[in-house]
Amino acid sequence: MALITIQDFDMTRAASQPDSGLGRWYCQQLERGHILFFPRIPFELSEEDRAFLLTQQQAGAGYHKNIAYRPHQDRITGLVKRSRQEEERLRSLMRAYSRRVIRFMAALLPPYASRWRLDYASFRPQEERGRPLRLRSRNDLLHVDAFPTRPTGGGRILRVFTNIHPTRPRHWVTSETCDVLIERLAGTPGLPLPSPRHHSIWGRLGRALATAGRRVGLPLIHRSPYDAFMLRLHHYLKEHREFQASSPKHVWAFPAHSTWIVFTDMVTHAVLSGQFALEQTFIVPHEALVLPERSPLRVLERLVGAPLTAAE
Ligand SMILES: [Fe+2]
Repeated sequence: MALITIQDFDMTRAASQPDSGLGRWYCQQLERGHILFFPRIPFELSEEDRAFLLTQQQAGAGYHKNIAYRPHQDRITGLVKRSRQEEERLRSLMRAYSRRVIRFMAALLPPYASRWRLDYASFRPQEERGRPLRLRSRNDLLHVDAFPTRPTGGGRILRVFTNIHPTRPRHWVTSETCDVLIERLAGTPGLPLPSPRHHSIWGRLGRALATAGRRVGLPLIHRSPYDAFMLRLHHYLKEHREFQASSPKHVWAFPAHSTWIVFTDMVTHAVLSGQFALEQTFIVPHEALVLPERSPLRVLERLVGAPLTAAE
């Protein structure tokens, strides 16, 4: 796993040359489990907005991980004790941030741009070191991302992070990539291989129930065997003391005012310390991948010998 540094990215020029091949190369690096790193924030973020964000502490928010912004609903969640004015300012700031990041990502990664699903953005004002979180919510234990309430159906979790702390770096640890871990760990005690039978019979039933439930307002979640496995892997890694202690590790210090992009369902990662980060998530559908054979889904399907996502 490597850090690929991109200096002076020219967004206008990249947007005018979507077929140059460079965007495809960046996608390949991301899908291999590398991190794209920008020493300076590669999209507009005004000094005024940054200063406002730095005043936003979440008093008594031990169990609120982040402030989330939902672009499709233009809604903000996870706020603690804010005036209406402050809430409105935060919402419009997150809206503008989200739009700028989308434009930047569309210029950087044309193969994904017209096909991704936009997920939430977040603002993370809490100091990460020593946060009182439940084990499965802890950021400082190595894991791959899997969303319990928003299964991707085989789509990939691509995230853009920006450290807006005025001086301090954000420290990450990364370890082996998900494809390697699946090959080694899937099918061992505690991490059973998903069952394709579950996919064909119970999968169809589960999907039908979830669809019917949503129609009457019940928040039912249907996970494909792939999604269920990835969520299990997330828990398994965080609970696995020996893996946490003895897996090979790289420590990264992302400096103040830098940005980095990573498939967080590929790269095992943990956040050791840092405060004040912005983040936007994209779900890249499997059909848009440039190296689909490297994806966790394909690696798992090869092991099981059957498809593991629901056909829509
Ligand atoms: Fe994570």
